[in-house]
Amino acid sequence: HIDPAVYVRNTIRSVPDWPRPGVTFRDITPVLQDPRSFRVLIDLFVYRYMRQRLDLVAGVDARGFILGSVLAYELNLGFVPVRKKGKLPFRTVAEEYSLEYGNATVEMHTDSVRPGQRVLLIDDLIATGGTMVAASKLLQRLGANVVEAAAIIDLPELGGSQALRETGLDIYTVCS
Ligand code: PRP
Ligand code: HPA
Repeated sequence: HIDPAVYVRNTIRSVPDWPRPGVTFRDITPVLQDPRSFRVLIDLFVYRYMRQRLDLVAGVDARGFILGSVLAYELNLGFVPVRKKGKLPFRTVAEEYSLEYGNATVEMHTDSVRPGQRVLLIDDLIATGGTMVAASKLLQRLGANVVEAAAIIDLPELGGSQALRETGLDIYTVCS
């Protein structure tokens, strides 16, 4: 009877020197591949959010789609994608954020959230927090109430989750 968060953490693979020398990449594909770990992970989110009267789950391109769609289905909620630039066909709002090298942009459809809706934002990992900040700004511009930003993994040494909390966002991560 191992702690579910420990079980998930033990299933994450750390790949040294990827995508660059000196970076250790946290790879969640073994979690998705292992039916027990995947279920334990999703159930952690389900039990956390089942009584929160959410209206919608928003998942970040690309790994947030995998988690967010399953979670939305289990919670009987709709799912909306926060996509990388240039992928969404209808009217969009965009938010730029900085990466280690250069910038990136995320977009949402303008009609993907109605003002006042209670939205859970989800992704696989918080590093610098730039992606979550941009995604939450988009949601707030559309009038959403971002109830919490959730991820499997926090890399606290990069300060992202702390910076996110300082913007007033509530953060939940399964492990670090
Ligand atoms: C990774 C990860 C998060 C983000 C975290 O995605 O899945 O979305 O980076 O980093 P941050 O906290 O510093 O913003 P990536 O940008 O590599 O995109 P991908 O999912 O398309 O691979
Ligand atoms: N894993 C997945 N995505 C990431 C990582 C990582 O270690 N660092 C920044 N984005």
